[in-house]
Amino acid sequence: MQIRIFSNENDLAAAAADIFETTIAAKPDAVLGLATGASPVLTYKELIKRYEAGKISFARVTTFNLDEYCDLPKNDKNSYYTFMQENLFSKIDIDPANVHIEDGNAADFDAEAKAYDAMIEAAGLIDLQLLGIGTNGHIGFNEPADAFSDGTFRVKLTESTIKANSRYFTDSVMPEYALTMGVGSIMRAKKILLIATGAAKAEAICNTVKGPVTPRCPASILQTHPDAILLMDEAAAALL
Ligand code: F6R
Repeated sequence: MQIRIFSNENDLAAAAADIFETTIAAKPDAVLGLATGASPVLTYKELIKRYEAGKISFARVTTFNLDEYCDLPKNDKNSYYTFMQENLFSKIDIDPANVHIEDGNAADFDAEAKAYDAMIEAAGLIDLQLLGIGTNGHIGFNEPADAFSDGTFRVKLTESTIKANSRYFTDSVMPEYALTMGVGSIMRAKKILLIATGAAKAEAICNTVKGPVTPRCPASILQTHPDAILLMDEAAAALL
C-alpha cells in the first residue's frame, strides 16, 4: 500500500486527478470504477477542469459506479445516478452508453448484481478504482462483516452508515438497502485509489493501514492489493 499525506485538499485532489490522467493517457479506453460521497468531489472538479482545458478526454472511457441505493427513484436528488450526473458526467465528454451504475430499482436484485459483474468482466475488469472509506472502514457499501464479500450484491446498510448519510435525506427517508460492488469486485481492479479526509476517518484509516486484514474493517484488505494508493489529509492520517 502506498500512502501519501497532503496538507490541503486541493493538492490531494490534484494528485488523484494526476493518477486518472496518467491512466487515461496510457489507455484512452480505460475502465474506471467510480465512487460517490464527499471524498471524490474535489477530484471530479479537477478532472472537469482538465477536460475543459483539453488535457483529458473521457470519450472512450467506460465507467462502473461502486454502488446505488435500492428503492430510491433514479432521479431522486440523493440517488448516486443524480450525484454522478451533477458532479461529473454532465460536465465531461463521456458517452452515456459507457456509463454503468447498478439499477437500485431492478425487479430482481440478484439478477441485476450478476449482470453488473458480467459487464465488468466483459469490459476487461477495472483499470482504476476510486474509493472513499466509511467511518466504520466500509468500501463501497461493504459493511463490517464476518467474511469478505465477492461480487456485486444487495446489502442492508448498518446503523453507522445510515447515521452518516441520513443528513443528505432532508425530504425523504434514507433507504436501508443498497446494491454494491463486492470486496472481490473491488480487489480485481488493477489499481485502487482511496481518498480519505477529515478526523472522522482517522480510526478507519488506522485500522486499514495498521490493523489486521479482517472483514471487520473491509478496507484493511487493501493491504493485500498489489497496487493500492491511499491519499489522505493530515486529519485522516492523525492516528498512523
Ligand atoms: C460511495 C461509497 C462509500 C463512500 C464512503 C465515504 O460510492 O461507496 O463507501 O465512499 O461512505 O463517504 P464520504 O466520502 O461521503 O465520506
